[in-house]
Amino acid sequence: MTAEYQVHGQTAVITLQNPPVNGLGFSTRQGIVAGVTRALDDDAIKAIVITGAGKAFSGGADIREFNKPAATAAPNLLNVIAVLEASSKPIVAAMHSVAMGGGLELAMGCHFRVVQSGTQIALPEVKLGILPGAGGTQRLPRLIGVEPALNMIVSGSTVPAEKLAKTALFDEIVETDVVKAALAFAERAVASNLPLKKARDIKIKFATAEGFFQFARNMVAAAAKNYPAPLKCVDAVEASVTKPFDEGMRIEREAFTYLVQTTESKALRHAFFGERAASKIPDIPEDTPTRPIRSAAVIGAGTMGGGIAMNFANAGIPVTVLEMKSEALEKGLAVVRKNYENSMKKGKLTPEKFAERVGLIKGSLAYQDIRDADIVIEAVFEDLAVKEQVFKQLDEVMRSGAILASNTSTLDVDKIAAFTRRPEDVIGTHFFSPANVMKLLEVVRGKKTGKDVLATVMQLSKKIKKTGVVSGVCDGFIGNRMIEQYSRQAGFLLEEGALPQQVDKAVERFGFAMGPFRMGDLAGNDVGWYIRKRRYVEKPNIVYSKTADLLCELGRFGQKTGAGWYDYKPGDRTAYPSEVVNEMIIAHSKTLGVTRRKISDDEIVERLVFALVNEGAHILEEGIALRASDIDMVYLTGYGFPIYRGGPMFYADTVGLPNVILAMHRYARQRHGDAWKPAPLLEKLAAEGKTFN
Ligand code: 3HC
Ligand code: NAI
Repeated sequence: MTAEYQVHGQTAVITLQNPPVNGLGFSTRQGIVAGVTRALDDDAIKAIVITGAGKAFSGGADIREFNKPAATAAPNLLNVIAVLEASSKPIVAAMHSVAMGGGLELAMGCHFRVVQSGTQIALPEVKLGILPGAGGTQRLPRLIGVEPALNMIVSGSTVPAEKLAKTALFDEIVETDVVKAALAFAERAVASNLPLKKARDIKIKFATAEGFFQFARNMVAAAAKNYPAPLKCVDAVEASVTKPFDEGMRIEREAFTYLVQTTESKALRHAFFGERAASKIPDIPEDTPTRPIRSAAVIGAGTMGGGIAMNFANAGIPVTVLEMKSEALEKGLAVVRKNYENSMKKGKLTPEKFAERVGLIKGSLAYQDIRDADIVIEAVFEDLAVKEQVFKQLDEVMRSGAILASNTSTLDVDKIAAFTRRPEDVIGTHFFSPANVMKLLEVVRGKKTGKDVLATVMQLSKKIKKTGVVSGVCDGFIGNRMIEQYSRQAGFLLEEGALPQQVDKAVERFGFAMGPFRMGDLAGNDVGWYIRKRRYVEKPNIVYSKTADLLCELGRFGQKTGAGWYDYKPGDRTAYPSEVVNEMIIAHSKTLGVTRRKISDDEIVERLVFALVNEGAHILEEGIALRASDIDMVYLTGYGFPIYRGGPMFYADTVGLPNVILAMHRYARQRHGDAWKPAPLLEKLAAEGKTFN
């Protein structure tokens, strides 16, 4: 049993011992009940303190047990809390560090709560697609008030304990040594015979409940889109006001049981673990020594360079941006400054933070100024000859031990490494645009990249608040290599009968943040054009729809030229369907001799998403990605794939791999059918009845 029992004078201390965060798994729950029972049976014990060992009071239910028998095996968390509440001896929770989800619910089932200041308090279940399932929706409103409780439950956000200091959630807030304080509190409770408080007995008075919940429901429904959990949170909290406690508990339980089985919740949990799994690299132990990153440099102050520099400044790391010409440097730094100013105007940045961040970013035109940086990230033009020149320079000037990274999106990192005499120090850091906003960082491991270099960059990715995902070297790495197949299908769909707005709508209805054509207009259609032109030479066998080239030949590069797949009005980013483009598409089908047909939204989604899945399977098989969930993380954090679908590989698992293959066979019989040869790994897993994840 993973809870320890100790006696301090007349008080029993039960300490949860389930690393890493004292998740309330089966054996921990058993341990708590056994501890309480033992204390109740012992006449010498007058009170009980419950706390957690290590770095958390408790991070909540053990997520690893969800959908397994252990999750519901008795004693479940409701049983445990019932035992606490019914105890005839006072129970004091000694809360510190983190009290979340079931951990907070456990504490709310105690008679008293002593908390250490700084403790992170949350009911984050909604982020896992569920709602608090052990009384959280009924007890929190009673303890801190309906509105603040609803906000916490619907958003899942974390609140520091001090912010709740004046509520009935806490009996005492202390700066240090919470267990000592809880022991003293327990002694006082016994000595003064304090009545044993039960949160369930608190009566909620809320005169304007009906209007309030109607308003809340409207707001939440609009924001939640395809998530069922947030609305269920509103229902349950409403029940805490309008129904007796036990009825509220029943409503909460019913919603929990329903939600925990939904694909959305499974997908969100997959993403939670996927994010953590991505930082684990099989041949690099967690204790691998890393290199300190105290200062950084960025080469190139263009679209990417400025954003990359902001990441360092945001993390408090001084960074020097190097350009060839002062005009380019000034322009780049002005964009950075403007970005920070906008954040300040929106109230997201205080004037002090603004000054601090701007102050951390310096500009330079001389390599000598960056020689002592611990890491340098190159973000110059996507041209191997330019990269060669830059890396040779870096090799000359940078101090030994500095990490030399490239932000290239398509070039061979091994070739770039070979421009230097220290290929072990070279690595790819592929940021996504806008680099100061997008969560994804593809970390490209070259053949010779040092293990400590990789470990350092993965650690750095956390420090700058990115999701680092390791990719092997290949054209396009994980994300762009897959998106190419998706874009090819999008192009073929235009030739066969769809128009950009139909394709975008179908994909957006599936949940993508943006369809491929709106995306192209945002990123610049010329970028893909440039890559295709290279491909026509390097890989003449790959077939692309010519539609995108025709569009670029019209000068329609997207929002930046005021016209792309869609028309735009000055100062307005709304995409208006374009007659010119649609006519061009229809005329092109005619030139090809293709009879346009009505294409269903289902076909559109399947062709785009399964194209991702098939390429993902190749990537997995080749070892470019370490695991299927890494591919999912790339798509969830860098490409706007809907999180409640868990990423392309997880989505394929939920559809069923044999079904994916069946669909692929169907498309193989259509135009450009040779794109639909299932990857061997996909076929193998489907045949064995297995899944990617
Ligand atoms: N169950 C099992 N494992 C958990 C866990 C949980 N509830 N929460 C975190 N972990 C694991 C992580 O998977 C990770 O494992 P790893 O080291 O093997 O990769 C490890 O703990 C550390 O996690 P983090 O990297 O996230 O560490 P941090 O220190 O940055 O954050 C934390 C700690 C704030 C607790 C964060 O992990 C977190 O937010 N966890 C999720 C908490 C949560 O959602 N709780 C609700 C659970 S559902 C519930 O309680 C249902 C109930 O209402 C019935
Ligand atoms: P950009 O054209 O906006 O900026 C490049 C900058 O590098 C320019 O300011 C230029 O003056 C400067 N530069 C060129 N040669 C230089 C040299 N020798 N020394 C110093 N500065 C030099 O390009 P962008 O879009 O920022 O791309 C940079 C890199 O990032 C490319 O490798 C690109 O493939 C990659 N990338 C781009 C993404 C995007 O969405 N734009 C996304 C991910 C990666």
